[in-house]
Amino acid sequence: MTAKVITISNQKGGVGKTTTAVSLAHYLARKNKVLLIDLDPQGQCATNLGIKQEQGAFYLLVISQVSARDIDFIHTLTRETGRENLQIIPGDQMTGSAQTTIMDKPVNHVREILKPFQNQVDFIIFDTSPSLGGLQERAIWAADAVIVPCATEFASLESAAKTVKTMQGLRLEKAWKGGLLGILPTFFDDKTRESRNSMKDLKEQFGEKVMQPIHAATVLRECWSTGQTIFEYAPDSRSAQEYELFAQQVKNY
Ligand SMILES: Nc1ncnc2c1ncn2[C@@H]1O[C@H](COP(=O)(O)OP(=O)(O)O)[C@@H](O)[C@H]1O
Ligand SMILES: [Mg+2]
Repeated sequence: MTAKVITISNQKGGVGKTTTAVSLAHYLARKNKVLLIDLDPQGQCATNLGIKQEQGAFYLLVISQVSARDIDFIHTLTRETGRENLQIIPGDQMTGSAQTTIMDKPVNHVREILKPFQNQVDFIIFDTSPSLGGLQERAIWAADAVIVPCATEFASLESAAKTVKTMQGLRLEKAWKGGLLGILPTFFDDKTRESRNSMKDLKEQFGEKVMQPIHAATVLRECWSTGQTIFEYAPDSRSAQEYELFAQQVKNY
């Protein structure tokens, strides 16, 4: 097998990146082996899954490509999540310190260090921090496909557009082979004009790349505090159905 690498990216915070990364990873793990990698210094993928934050992502980023070929080393950074088929390389605030080190490494660094791992799992999913910079670029470059969650509120278009522009730059200037899988509208509320207008704007700009929206829902907020994914906390909720539909699209991509 060769793992499909998927990066969740948007330079804006609070748009549902981590929620999307964790939900996607857990859903795909029903039938596939999945490795979730948290590149955000906030380390919330682990928290979301009810496990502790660790420095795995930091070590992953600062190792040289030579030592990375030692697959055992990457194995020492992965943790079980207590869910079958779902492993994580967690992060914590130390990931922020890797930001400077990584600037000295080539744009394909993150993809290269994972190469030995690509035949060990079916999907590698990166959650990223709300910033544009060296790490973000390398996380995008590592991906076969990028998903841009985008809150349906004022100015949402701008941050999504910037992220997509970064991707275009990487394709044109850095020979990145991946592409945009989709824009995922989040925090959707069809009762507010802001949300509806924002959907309209997104569709005008990104056309068919705009996926079915994830509605704003309290259960998505609640499941965090319990360390459960939406599929554990509220499997019958509309949010679980929406994330299931989304994950199926990603799987078939
Ligand atoms: N569709 C949604 N409806 C309501 N709350 C949401 C939704 N998606 C995410 N949240 C909550 O909003 C906050 C930010 O989401 P998060 O996934 O951490 O965004 P990001 O990773 O982009 O910063 C979290 O508290 C999360 O539980
Ligand atoms: Mg996050």
